[in-house]
Amino acid sequence: MNDYSFGVGREGAERLDLVNDVFGPHSRRFLMNAGLREGISVLEVGCGSGNMTAFLAEQVGPAGRVVAVDASPQQIEIAGELCSKAGHRNVTFVCARVEALDLPGQRFDLACCRLVLMHLREPGPVVARMAGLLVAGGTLACEEPTTSTLHTLPRCEVFHRVNDLFLRAGKMAGIDLDVGDRLFPMIVEAGLRLTVAHFVQPMVPIRVAKALVLAGVREGLPAALRAGIVTREAADETLREIADLHEANTFYYAVPRYAQVAGTRAGPG
Ligand SMILES: C[S@@+](CC[C@H](N)C(=O)[O-])C[C@H]1O[C@@H](n2cnc3c(N)ncnc32)[C@H](O)[C@@H]1O
Repeated sequence: MNDYSFGVGREGAERLDLVNDVFGPHSRRFLMNAGLREGISVLEVGCGSGNMTAFLAEQVGPAGRVVAVDASPQQIEIAGELCSKAGHRNVTFVCARVEALDLPGQRFDLACCRLVLMHLREPGPVVARMAGLLVAGGTLACEEPTTSTLHTLPRCEVFHRVNDLFLRAGKMAGIDLDVGDRLFPMIVEAGLRLTVAHFVQPMVPIRVAKALVLAGVREGLPAALRAGIVTREAADETLREIADLHEANTFYYAVPRYAQVAGTRAGPG
């Protein structure tokens, strides 16, 4: 069973496209710094609708390969379509929960995930599992948020209220939406040597913030209603409040800070 509480399929893909518009350039730079290059083998965990998968496939080229894993068959289907439309024939998709991932005999030069550990109850063992799938000298590169670091200028209460609801819903589901701050120690504990580590916190105009938050609320809402942390009336009122926010150019929203951490497995020498 998958506990992922956001949308999958087409609607989920639209939200991930928005996320990718904001984070894509940072993620791509991070992965290149972490060692992504032509001809290597890459394991991507939680590939979602394939935005990063297509980039990975393009970078490794026909001489390389990508194994992209996701627990959701709908996500895999969309990611598969995206990659085949782009003409990438070097990607193998595996529909599996990462906790139970079994890839006998396979080892990778690079293993990566973005926005995935934040959905897991026990991210530490998954980091260790991914590290264990690296060749000697291979690199694990993870990107995860510290959700409580949302920053708005000037402060916009409705965004902070929604963010607090996400954090509460996460706690109730037993997941840590602030996992970004634990990435550094988890990668060290997995026995890797740190090679890249920094935070990114892009600021986006209010128009983009509204689209991101509205999509997140709509997708997260069924789970929040089921958990009883919000009523339908309160949720509708919040959605209206966000939709009505004035789109002044001077108002910015800094998405929660993301940790980007990469570590390398000791080489043969
Ligand atoms: C927020 S999306 C991120 C997708 C992609 N990494 C990106 O950045 O665009 C998280 C993805 O992780 C997948 N996922 C969640 N829990 C998982 C698990 N236990 N094993 C494998 N995939 C999982 C979900 O199905 C979803 O596609």
